[in-house]
Amino acid sequence: MKPLHVGIIMDGNGRWAQKRGLPRIEGHRRGALKAERVVEWAAQEGIKYLTLYAFSTENWKRPKEEVEYLFSLLAKLLRKKFNKLMKNGVRLRFAGRIHQLPKEIYELCLEFEEKTKNNSMIQVILALNYGGRAELVDAFNKAIESGVQKLDESTLRNFLYLPDVPDPDLVIRTSGEKRLSNFLIWQIAYSELYFTKKLWPDFSREDFKKALEDFEKRQRRFGGLVCPKQEQG
Ligand code: IPE
Ligand code: IPE
Ligand code: MG
Repeated sequence: MKPLHVGIIMDGNGRWAQKRGLPRIEGHRRGALKAERVVEWAAQEGIKYLTLYAFSTENWKRPKEEVEYLFSLLAKLLRKKFNKLMKNGVRLRFAGRIHQLPKEIYELCLEFEEKTKNNSMIQVILALNYGGRAELVDAFNKAIESGVQKLDESTLRNFLYLPDVPDPDLVIRTSGEKRLSNFLIWQIAYSELYFTKKLWPDFSREDFKKALEDFEKRQRRFGGLVCPKQEQG
């Protein structure tokens, strides 16, 4: 079965550039182009939700110039690709503390969410100023403010950034690191994880296909004895 929702930790831009004697930001530029390609590939594969980890709550620790470059790159790419997003039926959404981003970027995010909200080919979620722990803290605070007396798993879920988005079935991380780096902590409790050594700008259509093929061979049990798919079939 194809995954309904794929999450990608797009890692390795800096190393890709350094290996070539280029500045780290050149790696980010190439990485952004790759993100654009992967949206096309995912849509072609019939994937309905794609979450791309673009900037973590911990990435503020980087030099100011690098952080500023990342936001300017995002703004440039979004503006340039608006028509393509509309033509391809991409609904763009954001997960993270986007209100803490520079005002111009924050407003651009809201504008794109609004303008693409009726597109239905694929939902692309950019995890931007996103942290899994921050999301849970924000969810608990929203719950407290709402006056709810007691939480269970489904009520807590309603306080997450995008409660209507199903949990990722598959999470891909490039660059060889085998960690989650604060990505969707709650939602990936039962996701299948796929790690590849490829650096993000080198990630190819073939690599994407391999990850999907690998996923299809996995037996998901969710703590039970057979995977639900087999039970039905
Ligand atoms: C991922 O690439 C992109 C972001 C975190 C914004 P990195 O910039 O982390 O690249 P490496 O890990 O240093 O190679
Ligand atoms: C994770 O990559 C965040 C993004 C891809 C946006 P990092 O490069 O920030 O993760 P660590 O520091 O290696 O864990
Ligand atoms: Mg990294």
